[in-house]
Amino acid sequence: MRTATVFLLCLVVFTARAQPPALMPWPQEIAEAAGNFSVNEDFTVSLSGPASNRLSAYATRFISRVAGRTGLFITQWRPVAGDSAGLQISYNKVAALNLQTDESYQLNIAPSGMVLQANTDVGAMRGLETLLQLLSSNAAGYYFAGYTIKDSPRFVWRGLLLDVCRHWLPMEVVLRNLDAMAAVKMNVLHLHLTEDQGFRIESKVYPKLHEMGSDGNYFTQEEIRKIVAYAAARGIRVVPEFDIPGHTTSWFVGYPELAAAPGPYEIARKYGVHNPTIDPTKEYTYVFLEKFLTEMAGLFPDGFMHIGGDENNGKQWNANAGITKFKENQGLASNHELQAYFNVKVAAILTQLNKRMVGWDEILDEDLPRSIVIQSWRGKQALIDAAEAGYDVLLSNGYYIDLVQPAAYHYQNDPIPAGSGLSAEALQHVLGGEATMWAELVSPETVDSRIWPRTAAIAERFWSPAGRNDTDDMYQRLQIVSVQLEELGLLHRKNYAMMMRRLVGEENVPTLKTLIDVLEPIEGYKRHRARKYRTWSPLTRVPDIAQPDAFVAMAFNKLVDDYLANGSQLAKKQIKEQLLVWVENHKQMRQLANKYPAIKEILPLSEGLSGIAVLGMQALSSTKAHDAAWHQSADRMLADAAKPRAECELKVVTGIAKIVAAVN
Ligand code: ACM
Repeated sequence: MRTATVFLLCLVVFTARAQPPALMPWPQEIAEAAGNFSVNEDFTVSLSGPASNRLSAYATRFISRVAGRTGLFITQWRPVAGDSAGLQISYNKVAALNLQTDESYQLNIAPSGMVLQANTDVGAMRGLETLLQLLSSNAAGYYFAGYTIKDSPRFVWRGLLLDVCRHWLPMEVVLRNLDAMAAVKMNVLHLHLTEDQGFRIESKVYPKLHEMGSDGNYFTQEEIRKIVAYAAARGIRVVPEFDIPGHTTSWFVGYPELAAAPGPYEIARKYGVHNPTIDPTKEYTYVFLEKFLTEMAGLFPDGFMHIGGDENNGKQWNANAGITKFKENQGLASNHELQAYFNVKVAAILTQLNKRMVGWDEILDEDLPRSIVIQSWRGKQALIDAAEAGYDVLLSNGYYIDLVQPAAYHYQNDPIPAGSGLSAEALQHVLGGEATMWAELVSPETVDSRIWPRTAAIAERFWSPAGRNDTDDMYQRLQIVSVQLEELGLLHRKNYAMMMRRLVGEENVPTLKTLIDVLEPIEGYKRHRARKYRTWSPLTRVPDIAQPDAFVAMAFNKLVDDYLANGSQLAKKQIKEQLLVWVENHKQMRQLANKYPAIKEILPLSEGLSGIAVLGMQALSSTKAHDAAWHQSADRMLADAAKPRAECELKVVTGIAKIVAAVN
C-alpha cells in the first residue's frame, strides 16, 4: 500500500520549471524570464500609490504567508517605504467594488527584484495571489521563478453562493471561504440568507423573522458588517439573497400574515420544494418588504440585491380564492404573470434603494426592467433568452457544486454555452457565473470539502481564456492549489482524516482510508432518494467523507491507461502492488466493521473492491487461464462492484475493467 500510494502521489509533484507553474486561474499572458528571485530573511515589500489600508493589510498577510510556507524569519513583517524593496508594488487608485473594478495587473520577476503593477489596489491583490502560487524551492532555498505576466479577468462576476440556511454556516466558515475565494481571484460572495429551513440574518425592523425563524442561528447585523468588510478587504463584493415569494416558510413563523395561506407555520425540517409562499395581492406585503429591504440595503453596500424567485409551486396561490379573484381582476392569466406582477413591484422598491435586482431564471419576464440580472440555473436557455432580450446574465447551471460532480465537469462548462449562437450584443450581457453551495447535505465540518478544491477549477473558467481547458493539466494544478488553500484555514483536507478518526479511531484510519480514497459520493440528488434526509440527520458517514474527485482512484486509472498504452513493467508492478493492498485491506475492514457498526454499510464496497482486485491480479498473471467463462464471471463481478452502495461509488472499477478486458 505505502509504496503504491506514495508513487501515485508523486505523479503529481513537479520540479519547478521542468513543468509549467501551478497557477490557478491561469493568467492571460505568461512568459518565462531568465533567473529566479531568491527569498531570504531580508525580503521586503513596498507599496507605491494612494493610501489603501486594505492593500497594506493584504501585503502584510502576503509576507506572513511567505514566511509561513518557507519557515523564514523575515525581518520586515509589513510593507516598507522606499523603492529598493524586493517586491515593489505600484498602483494608481483605490478601487470601488462594482462591475467596473479594474482587476488587471502585471508582474515581472527577475533575479534583481520583482515588480507588481496594477491600476487599482484590487488588481495588486490579484497579482499577490499569483505570486504566492509561484513560490518554489530547491536545494539552495526558496525563490520566485522568473516570469513576466500580464493578467486580467475574462468575466467581471466570478461568484460563490453560500447557502447558510439549510445548514447553518457560521461566521468562521464564511470568513475562511472568503480567503479561499481571494486566493483564486473570485470576486462575488452571494449569501443565500433566507430559506424554508432558516432565516439567517437579524432584522431590527421585523425581529420575529430571525427570533422565530432561525433556531437562534443567524448573523447579527454586526457580524454582517464584519463579513462585508472582510470581503471588501479582499476585493470581494457581497450580494445578499432574500428568496421571495417561495422558499419563505421561516418568515411566516413570526409573520404568518405575509403568507398566502393561514398559519401557524413552523421552520421546515425537510428538504425539497415547500408550499408556503408570500401573498402578492396584499398591500401589507409591499409595506413589509419595503421596510425590510430598506433595512437590508443599509447593511449591504453592494449595488445588487438578489430576490431569489425560484421554485414557487403556486399551490398556496391556487388554493386561495382571494388570490384567484385578484388574478382575474388584474388580467393575470397565470401564476407566472402574478409572480411577474410581484417582481415588478419589488424591482421598483430596489430601484428606489439604488439596487439592481438579481433573480433566478424563473423571474424572466418582459414586464421586468432591463436593469435586472437573470441567474440561469435550470438550464442554459434562460441565459440565452435573457441575454438576447437585453438583460445581464449569470450562469450557475453546470456549477452546482452541491451535486458533487467532478471538477472536470464544471471546468468544461463555459459561461458562454457552446453553440449558443449569442449575438455580439448579447455576449456583452454575460457577466460571468457563480458556483452554488446549496447546503442540504453539508455541515460546517464538510462544507469546505464540497467547495474546494473544485471551485478553484470553476474560478479558472471564470477568469482565464476559454481555450485554457485541458482537464489533465487542470487536475495537476488543482491538487497543488488544494494544499495551498489549507494555509488559509480551509478544512477540506484536514477533516478527511478527522472524520475517519471519529468513525473508527486513530489507529484504524489507514484501513478505512485505503477504501475511502477510491470512493466518491453518489452524484446529483441521488442521496435524497437513498435516505430520508432531514435538517438534523448525521453528515458524518462515509458518503460525507468521500471526496467528489477521488484523486487516488484517478491516479490508479491513469496508471492503468499508461500501462496498457506502453506495457511498462514498472507500471505493471505498481498496479499489482496496489491490487494486493486492496485485497489485504478487506480483511482488516471486516474486523473493523465488527467493532464499528457505522461502517458496516461500506463492507459490500470493500468486498467488491477486493473481489475485482483479485480479478485484476488474475488478469495480470500469465499462469491463469482467461477463458470465456472467466470473462463472463469477471464482467458480472465488475458490474456488481460498480453499483452504488452506502451512497458511494467505487471509482477504480473502470481501471480494473480495462485490465480485465485487455487479456484473452
Ligand atoms: C435553485 O437551485 N432553486 C435556484
